[in-house]
Amino acid sequence: MSIVGALLRPVSPALKDAQDKVTVVGVGAVGMACAFSILAEILRQQGISSEVILVDMMGDKVKGEVMDLQHGSMFLKNPKIDGSSDFSVTAGSKICVVTAGVRQKEGESRLDLVQRNTDVLKSIIPNLVKHSPQTILIIVSNPCDILTYVAWKLSGLPQHKVFGSGTNLDSSRFRFLMSQKLGVSASSTHGFIIGEHGDSSVPVWSSVNVAGVYLKDLNPDMGLDSDKENWKQVHKDVVAAAYDIIKLKGYTSWGIGLSVASIVQTILRNSQNVHCLSVCIKGLHDLDFEVFLSLPAVLGSEGITNIVVQKLSPSERCSLKFSAAMMSEVQAGIQM
Ligand SMILES: NC(=O)c1ccc[n+]([C@@H]2O[C@H](COP(=O)([O-])OP(=O)(O)OC[C@H]3O[C@@H](n4cnc5c(N)ncnc54)[C@H](O)[C@@H]3O)[C@@H](O)[C@H]2O)c1
Repeated sequence: MSIVGALLRPVSPALKDAQDKVTVVGVGAVGMACAFSILAEILRQQGISSEVILVDMMGDKVKGEVMDLQHGSMFLKNPKIDGSSDFSVTAGSKICVVTAGVRQKEGESRLDLVQRNTDVLKSIIPNLVKHSPQTILIIVSNPCDILTYVAWKLSGLPQHKVFGSGTNLDSSRFRFLMSQKLGVSASSTHGFIIGEHGDSSVPVWSSVNVAGVYLKDLNPDMGLDSDKENWKQVHKDVVAAAYDIIKLKGYTSWGIGLSVASIVQTILRNSQNVHCLSVCIKGLHDLDFEVFLSLPAVLGSEGITNIVVQKLSPSERCSLKFSAAMMSEVQAGIQM
């Protein structure tokens, strides 16, 4: 008799797949930061058994990353970790996070990547949906908003199941930078960046508050050129953040990894948290473009349940409309 046969007396068959299988496509800097942050989140939350699957066209790289993570299983509440360049390994995924594709080089904008990464998505999205027809797709690859539109079109999934990580990260950067100026923690400094995950993002100055005290009530010039405290610089720093980090270390990874893990956690726990996510904005804020931009969205186990309709100022509306028109123009030029 084998050791296993002698050691273990079978009582019931083990469950083959976890209920909360998460696939990460692309095992580059961003994909691995996402996978690691998701695993760390599983470790932090008691009682969530999970399965994390990695996929990449570079077979050896994905194999190496899987082995490396598996060797930490003992410290991670024993999640199942696997991966391959064959999409069949993703079957039955509750969530697929797409991080595959080219990244910005120094000085390149996110929009410069659009056609190259559209082509990458063409080889990924149909395969994901084929093996997980009920999945939720989270698009992280850039330009995130346009690629979310591309993924939605390619997938045939309902809109509430396809969204981009969008300005969840930009909002976190905003709150961190504000917190530094205020001396209040980022989690207690509330504020949102909406619109494009990119150069035309919109800071909603009218909603920035600490404990329900609206900073714009204290300084009506907040965010304007006339503001003597120059709060506008905070948004400029958010827009410059990715360019600055890429110049310094070549890519961004940890912030987006943590941002995606927080989104995944909200879905797995059905916690209805609000995240700024890239969603189809047609019909919202009087916009008629079929484009994806970030707005605060309520998220549950089946995807987006509601969009929060913020009270935007006329200039915030105008900036959002500008972003939408630009997205629409770029979108019209892509070859699906
Ligand atoms: N949304 C955000 O906030 C955010 C933040 C940072 C980076 N990004 C974007 O994420 C993407 C990935 O960045 P990165 O730094 O990880 O890049 P990277 O070059 O380190 O990794 C990309 C990975 O994608 C894989 N890949 C490419 N084509 C593929 C295909 N057809 N099928 C499977 N795998 C494929 C590559 O083999 C590689 O491992 C870029 O588009 C980048 O701009 C988005």
